[in-house]
Amino acid sequence: MTSDNSLSSTPSSSLKGTVKVPGDKSISHRSLMFGALAIGKTNVFGMLEGEDVLATAKAMRALGAHVERDDQGVWHIEGRGIGGLCEPEDVLDMGNSGTSARLLMGILGSHPITTFMTGDASLRKRPMGRVANPLAEMGTQVHCRSGQRLPLMVQGAETPMPIRYKLPMASAQVKSCILLAGLNTPGETTVIETEHTRDHTELMLRHFGAEVRVTQTEEGRETTIVGQPELKAADVHVPSDPSSAAFPTVAALINEGSELRLPGIGMNPHRNGIYITLKEMGADITLENERTEAGEPVADLVVRASKLKGITVPAERAPSMIDEYPILAIAASFAEGKTIMEGLGELRVKESDRLSAVANGLKACGVTCEEGDDYLIVEGSPTDVKGGGTITTHFDHRIAMSFLVMGMAAKEPVKVLDADAIDTSFPDFAKLMNGLGAQIG
Ligand code: S3P
Repeated sequence: MTSDNSLSSTPSSSLKGTVKVPGDKSISHRSLMFGALAIGKTNVFGMLEGEDVLATAKAMRALGAHVERDDQGVWHIEGRGIGGLCEPEDVLDMGNSGTSARLLMGILGSHPITTFMTGDASLRKRPMGRVANPLAEMGTQVHCRSGQRLPLMVQGAETPMPIRYKLPMASAQVKSCILLAGLNTPGETTVIETEHTRDHTELMLRHFGAEVRVTQTEEGRETTIVGQPELKAADVHVPSDPSSAAFPTVAALINEGSELRLPGIGMNPHRNGIYITLKEMGADITLENERTEAGEPVADLVVRASKLKGITVPAERAPSMIDEYPILAIAASFAEGKTIMEGLGELRVKESDRLSAVANGLKACGVTCEEGDDYLIVEGSPTDVKGGGTITTHFDHRIAMSFLVMGMAAKEPVKVLDADAIDTSFPDFAKLMNGLGAQIG
């Protein structure tokens, strides 16, 4: 990393080897939160130790849970039981992590304590009304800065009320926030979604002993949590993150002669849209040793360099690959023909406005693209991606990694500003990619 926190990626030869991708971010956050609400000691194996997850760990300690990491890298959490968290003495700083902020707001919403919460410049711009509004219906008082942004104060309800809530947008964070508020609420709390988002909350709550029912009705997919269960500590084996694995996967696909093996990647069907899409584009990706670990489907991936072709990615696939559009746009740049990506409205409220960050980055690297309100069209060219751009990441880890992958196969190096943002989800990204044959520095 240079003194200005930039990284550059220069054209590399083929990538070869085995990559151990770090643990799944979504599952790591939840293991800390649910462990803190359970009775007994939860052991977590393969925890992602990125900045986002460390922010959650710090917050759970501030709320009274005992959280420690041993020398073997196993995390141990001694919980306080549902309703047992105590008021933190200071403001909780959630850093860059929307998942930490929104899920924790749900947990705090049904604890009769007052908490102040903030985050970094990117998180302070992100909308919190989407969780503050349903929490208000449950009796929680959330006072936000203007525009329903952080910093904010959560005053948990003394006597929370269960709700039935239809999600206005496809968001696992909002769904999880409400279900977690429902944990310390008498009765049954139900969330209805018309688009199926990731279900790590539901799977892990069951793993800890909660009753979670899922039914399909005319209104959509209804998920109901039965309030005030006793959560019992349970060990969690965190699979490798399919979102992080998408970066070495695309790097291998677009660098001639590459072959990578990625063991133990989470293949939850509500997270694997990128792999389905890449295969439709002609990618040579094989799944080996498909298995289930702690309720989550897992497989070893074998990826070989491939000739990709442009396709139309349907809008309904967006929830299962919402974090992967930046790296898909890079794959699309190296594909023959047009790739059309639809249903991308939610990309505008991620760690950055990812739709415009991607479009601007592509243009800076000589790739023709069209940015619509909620779509992106990329004109690919397998042998003619110029590169050479300097990318403004807006402190977004996925924008940074995506364009470093582009620099590996473009004609000219790509420079990425604020590359330290990568530490939020994939701390050793550059080292690991360089070990496979990349040139990032
Ligand atoms: C996440 C849900 C998604 C995703 C985020 C992690 C989660 O956000 O973008 O990186 O762990 O629940 P939304 O729920 O806002 O789509």
